[in-house]
Amino acid sequence: MRDLISIRDLEKKDVDSFLSEAAKMEKLVGKPQKTLAGKLIASMFFEPSTRTNMSFQAAAKRLGAKILTFHSSTSSAVKGENLADTIRMMDGYADAIVLRHPMEGAARFAADLAACPVINAGDGGNQHPTQTLIDLYTIKKLKGKIGGLDITLLGDLKHARSMRSLLYGLAMYGAEVTLVSPPALRMDEDILKEVKAKFGAKPAQAAEAKLKGCDVLYVCRIQKERFSDSYEAERMQREFRVDMEMLKDADSKLAILHPLPKVDEIPPEVDADPRAKYFEQAKNGVPVRMAVLKKCILS
Ligand code: NCD
Repeated sequence: MRDLISIRDLEKKDVDSFLSEAAKMEKLVGKPQKTLAGKLIASMFFEPSTRTNMSFQAAAKRLGAKILTFHSSTSSAVKGENLADTIRMMDGYADAIVLRHPMEGAARFAADLAACPVINAGDGGNQHPTQTLIDLYTIKKLKGKIGGLDITLLGDLKHARSMRSLLYGLAMYGAEVTLVSPPALRMDEDILKEVKAKFGAKPAQAAEAKLKGCDVLYVCRIQKERFSDSYEAERMQREFRVDMEMLKDADSKLAILHPLPKVDEIPPEVDADPRAKYFEQAKNGVPVRMAVLKKCILS
C-alpha cells in the first residue's frame, strides 16, 4: 500500500518500475482483468478534468475495480465541509483515493489523514506525478530512450504542474532540456536549483524555441485559472502558437507532446501533422494509470 504524491518522492528505479509495468499493462488493455476485482476506488475531482478523470476510471475498470465518484459541486463541500473531514469519510468508504484539488499540498495533506493509498491527480500548480509518468512513458516509447534527448518545454512554466513535474522527471533521466516562456512565466528558481543539485541538470532558458535538432517539443496552455488577472492570461495566450509556420524548420523526427487540453496554442491543422503525438500520449494514460493503481493498491 503506497501513496503517489509527487514525482520528487520517487527514485529513478521506482519510475523505471512504473514504466515497465505500464508496458505490460498496455498489452492487457481490452482483455478483462481481475487484478483489482473487489476494490473500490474513490475518484475525487475538485477541479475540472477530462483525461485524468476518465483515464483513471478506464484504468480502474480495465483492472476489474469499481469507481466511487465524488462530485464536489453536489457534495457537502458546498455546505462548507473541510477537505480533512471529506477525506476521512472517503477513506472509510474506498480502497484508494484519486484526488485532484486546487490547493498545493492537498494530496500530501490527504495522504497524511487517510489509511488507504492516495494518488495525486494534480494539486494546484504544484505536482502532477501520473502525467509525468505518462509523458516519460510516451517519450521512451517513441524515442527508445529519454537520456540525452533534446527536449524543449514551451508555455506557462510558472503555473503548470505538468511542467514542474516533468522537468524533474527529465532531469532524473539526463535529458537536455530547454525552457521557453515569456519572462513572467519562467519556471520557479527553486525547481531549477533542485534539479541541478540532485541530477546536475542545467536546463537552458530561451525566449524562443529553436526546433532544428529538437527531439521533443512539449507544449502546455497558459494556466488561466491560476492568474489573478484573466486579461493578462488571455494576452499571454496569444503570444504562444505552435503553428505550421513554426514547425517548418523542425525535423521529421520531432515529437510534439501536450498534456491537453490545448486551447489556441496549437491550431487544429497541426493535429494532422505526423509529428503531433499528443493524442497518442493521452491514450497512454490508461496503461500508465493501470500500472499506478496496481502498484499503489497491491504493493
Ligand atoms: C493538465 C492539468 O490538469 O494539469 N491536464 C491534464 O491533466 N492532462 C494540463 C492543463 O490543464 O493544462
